[in-house]
Amino acid sequence: VSSLAIDNIGLLVTNDPALGEGDLGIMRDVALVLDGERVVSVGASERGATPADERIDAGGRCVIPGFVDSHTHLVFAGDRADEFAARMAGAPYAAGGISATVTATREATTASLRELAASRRAEALRAGITHLEVKSGYALDSAGERRLCELGGELTDDVTFLGAHLVPPEYADRPDDYVALVCGEMLSECAPHARWIDVFCERGAFDAEQSRAVLRAGREAGLGLRVHANQLGLGPGVQLAVEMGAASADHCTYLSAADVAALAGSATVATLLPATDFSTRQPYPDARRLLGAGATVALATNCNPGSSYTTSMSFCIALAVREMGMTAEEALSAATLGGAMALQRSDVGVLTPGSRADLVILAAPSYTHLVYRPGVPLIHTTVLGGRVEWTQPDLK
Ligand code: NIG
Repeated sequence: VSSLAIDNIGLLVTNDPALGEGDLGIMRDVALVLDGERVVSVGASERGATPADERIDAGGRCVIPGFVDSHTHLVFAGDRADEFAARMAGAPYAAGGISATVTATREATTASLRELAASRRAEALRAGITHLEVKSGYALDSAGERRLCELGGELTDDVTFLGAHLVPPEYADRPDDYVALVCGEMLSECAPHARWIDVFCERGAFDAEQSRAVLRAGREAGLGLRVHANQLGLGPGVQLAVEMGAASADHCTYLSAADVAALAGSATVATLLPATDFSTRQPYPDARRLLGAGATVALATNCNPGSSYTTSMSFCIALAVREMGMTAEEALSAATLGGAMALQRSDVGVLTPGSRADLVILAAPSYTHLVYRPGVPLIHTTVLGGRVEWTQPDLK
């Protein structure tokens, strides 16, 4: 099939203000025509007569760009449900929990890691995520990190090398030697398989000087920069991300006035991960403060076994609206266009002629239902590159 018309769309979010109302570029009673992997046209619905090889009747439902999940750690083995249960009983979250997943991941076969990651990718697709970033970071040795980057590359072209996730136990008494390994041999192994480099700049992980060294080395190797910043407390991460021109500063749970001003005055996207703050019993970041200052905000799932084991962007949107001061429009934009901006991509996160044909038909007349009906599976159909990849079996 070369062309597909999605007809009888009640409400279409294009994320292009030139095409429709408001920042979301909303159009009503329209049809989208997809050809191959691209959108070719957006126009008035011809009620079943829109010319195309195949046709889907959206039945007046809402259609949105597929979610762009700009922060995930999908490739890992093991389970940390006990750690989660202990947290719910009052234990604090600590960066050191990462090492339990490192042990399990190092022991896992490549085939089992591939299968686990593919099943999480399929789950994300059912949750309406059409594009995602995948980090390494659960091997923390050169061959293992390379293996994780290669496996990530089977799922996306936005692979992030995160050798600087935690100092592994065997380097516990010589962390600077580990930083040298990350910046040297490990980077050489991983850079050919990655687009980005990331560092966990936080107490208990890497300090500002170590993080700067990692980012500099990554940049010299041709990688774009990302930073895990200000997750567990105030610290240097956000300022470092801005100073180094990183594409995004992720987490931003704790922000000083100077951090907010730095983000607002830069092209660095503040990527907020509310499912993490939910799962670690932390305060939620103040998205309103960031938006009010003029910062660009993205929402992402941070799917990982320790701090946020979810692929539900709908859940993140609901938390962002209920707990972080975002409107439904802002949250939807942050989960689609915001994610694309955090990954410096213009082909996803929008539905305009020429963009990738990645979209979601919601089982709802409006995106507000993502917040209004929390926890309800509202992803009716996911279209990826012009092909229907998922449709809820019981829904007509
Ligand atoms: O983004 N902050 C560092 N990395 C992950 C947590 C990983 C883990 O606990 O396994 C995060 O929250």
